[in-house]
Amino acid sequence: MESHKLQEQVELIREVFEYIHRFQGKTLVIKIDGSIMEQPSLPLLVKDLVLLYRQGIRIVLVPGATQRIDEILTRYGIKWDRVEGVRISSPEAIPFIKMAAFDVSNRLMTQLAANGVDGVIGNWVKARSLGVRKGVDYQHTGAVEKIDSDIVRKLLAEALIPIFPNIGWNAAGTPYNINSNELAAALSSSLAAEKLFFISDHRGVIGGQYVLPEGILLSEEGLVTHLSVAEAQKLLEGNPAGDPMLDLVRLACRACQEGVSRVHIVNGEIEGVVLKEIFSSVGCGTMVYANEHENVRPMQRADIPEALRLMRPFIEKEALVERREEDLAARLGDFVVYEVDGLIHACGALHPSTEQRAEVAAVAVDETYAGFGVGRRIVSFLIERARALGLRQLYVLTTQTADWFVQFGFREGGVGDLPEERRRQYNRQRNSRVLLLDLEAVS
Ligand code: ARG
Repeated sequence: MESHKLQEQVELIREVFEYIHRFQGKTLVIKIDGSIMEQPSLPLLVKDLVLLYRQGIRIVLVPGATQRIDEILTRYGIKWDRVEGVRISSPEAIPFIKMAAFDVSNRLMTQLAANGVDGVIGNWVKARSLGVRKGVDYQHTGAVEKIDSDIVRKLLAEALIPIFPNIGWNAAGTPYNINSNELAAALSSSLAAEKLFFISDHRGVIGGQYVLPEGILLSEEGLVTHLSVAEAQKLLEGNPAGDPMLDLVRLACRACQEGVSRVHIVNGEIEGVVLKEIFSSVGCGTMVYANEHENVRPMQRADIPEALRLMRPFIEKEALVERREEDLAARLGDFVVYEVDGLIHACGALHPSTEQRAEVAAVAVDETYAGFGVGRRIVSFLIERARALGLRQLYVLTTQTADWFVQFGFREGGVGDLPEERRRQYNRQRNSRVLLLDLEAVS
C-alpha cells in the first residue's frame, strides 16, 4: 500500500479510538425517518447501530411512520387532513395510525433480531391532545407530555434497545399520534443523551438554500458541516419558518439547550453514514453542537508532534521549509493550531520581526480539512493577532500559494521589502515570492 494511504488510515484509526473513548457508555437517540424505513439501506444502517451498541454505546430508536400511516389509511379508505404540515388524527383513523406506528417499530425489532440484539417496544410516553388551535381541532393528534425515563434508563442498563413508536397515551389510556421528530428530541433531553440523530433522506443543511450567519464553514459539496447553538439560532432567525430542514435545526437547538451535547442530521441512504459521522471529526452531515467542538488556539508543547506530522506533506512538496521539533519549541508562542475534538487539523504561525512587522508562516491544513476554509480561519486569526499587537505590516514568503493570500489583501512585494535580518536569511534557491499586507490600509 502506498505510504500516504497507510498514513491516512492510521490517522483515521486514531480518530476512531478517540471517539470510542468519548462515547462509550453514553446514550444516542436515533430517529430513523419514514423515508429510510423502506429503503434497501436500512439493514446495513441497523447493523452499524448494532456495532455501536457492541462498543457499549446505548441506543434508543425512534422510527418515523408518516409514509406507513399514509399507506395504511389509504389502503383502508380513510381520509385525513393536514394543517400546516400536522396530520389531524380522527377517532376512526387512530387505530390504523397505531397499527402503522407499531408496524414500523416491529420492522426495527426484526432487524435487531437479525443481529442477535434484544429490542423492546413499550408504552413509556405520556401524551396530551394538541387540542383546538386557531379553530382547528386536531382530535387524536397529540404532543409529548412526559417520558418515563427511569424505565428507559433501566432498559438501557440491561443492554436492551428500546424502540419508541410515535404514540403516546393520556392518563385514561387514550392514544395520541405524536410527531416522531418531537418525540426523539424530547427523549434525548429527558434521557440527557449525548447525541440525537435525525436520519432522513436529506444530507443536512445545504448552504446555498439559506441566508447563512457569518463565519460558517461549508464542505466542498456546499453542506453546512457544523453549527454552534448560537449559529443555529441565527440561521433560524435569518430564514423564513416552515422549512422542514429548519424544523429539525429548531428541534436540535432545543435539545442542545436541554442538555444534549450534539445533534446530527444525516442522510441514511449514504452507506455507513452513522459511523462516518460518529468516528470522524469532519463527519458526514450537519451537526448542531452545544459543547466544545473546534477551535483555533495557541499551540502547546504537547501539540508539537501532531503539528510536525501535519507539516510533513507540505515540506515534502517544498511548499513549507523544513522545521524540526526544536524549531517549534523555540518559537512555541508564535504558533496557533486548529483543533477539532482534541486532535489538531491545521496550524500556522506569526513570527514577529523588527519595525512592527511580522511573518505569516507554517500554514498547513490536514488533507481531510482541505476545502473547508480552515486555512482561511488560521490566517484570519493570525491577522487579528497582528492587529491586536499593533503591528504595521505582515509579509509572507511563499513558493506555491501566492494567489491564495490575495483574498486577505496581500499584495506583491519583493525581497527588498523584507526586514533586514529576514532579507539576509532569504534563500535565493527557493526563490519564494514575497507578499505584503499593510495592516492600516485594510480594516
Ligand atoms: N465525530 C464527532 C461526533 O460525533 C464529530 C462529528 C462532526 N460532524 C459534522 N457533521 N461536522 O461528535
